[in-house]
Amino acid sequence: MEPNADSPAQDRRAFLTKASAVVIGGSLVVAPVVAGLCVVLDPLRRKSEAGASVLVATLNSLPEDGEPRKFSVLATRVDAWNRTPNVPIGAVYLQRLKDNKVRALNVVCPHAGCFVDYRSANNNDFGPCHNSSFALDGKVQDPKSPSPRGLDELPVEIRNGSEVWVTFQNFRAGVHEKIPV
Ligand code: FES
Repeated sequence: MEPNADSPAQDRRAFLTKASAVVIGGSLVVAPVVAGLCVVLDPLRRKSEAGASVLVATLNSLPEDGEPRKFSVLATRVDAWNRTPNVPIGAVYLQRLKDNKVRALNVVCPHAGCFVDYRSANNNDFGPCHNSSFALDGKVQDPKSPSPRGLDELPVEIRNGSEVWVTFQNFRAGVHEKIPV
């Protein structure tokens, strides 16, 4: 009598052999694809550092009478696959207020994006690129100002008693609302 070529044991062995081949072959294909996707999508996985809190100055570097001081804001720039520390991302005027509070104003004019200048004790304001001028609290002084809003105030936090941390952000110029860019 001839052996039965389609016995259940042989069927099971053939099935297991094929299943193993599929699993091993599949893992050999999937692993490099997943690794490749991780590399391609890496910049998307990284959290943008825009809007992060940055150490800008210390309290004792600010005049107690509230006169504004200008500081560069340095941060880590994440550009596709590169991380570059201590890159200038903007600048702020800091003013020391009562009770060790600090006001931070972005130096960029909301009209068309020039840098405003503090115009010392004579004017005691932030000077114009065109015809805008801003009070020390950042508000628009002239009702005919071309700037649609005052200077952009930024959140400040005092840490460890004297460190001035600013949550730096730029905003869209030419519009009334503060729209982060
Ligand atoms: S850019 Fe400031 S007034 Fe025009």
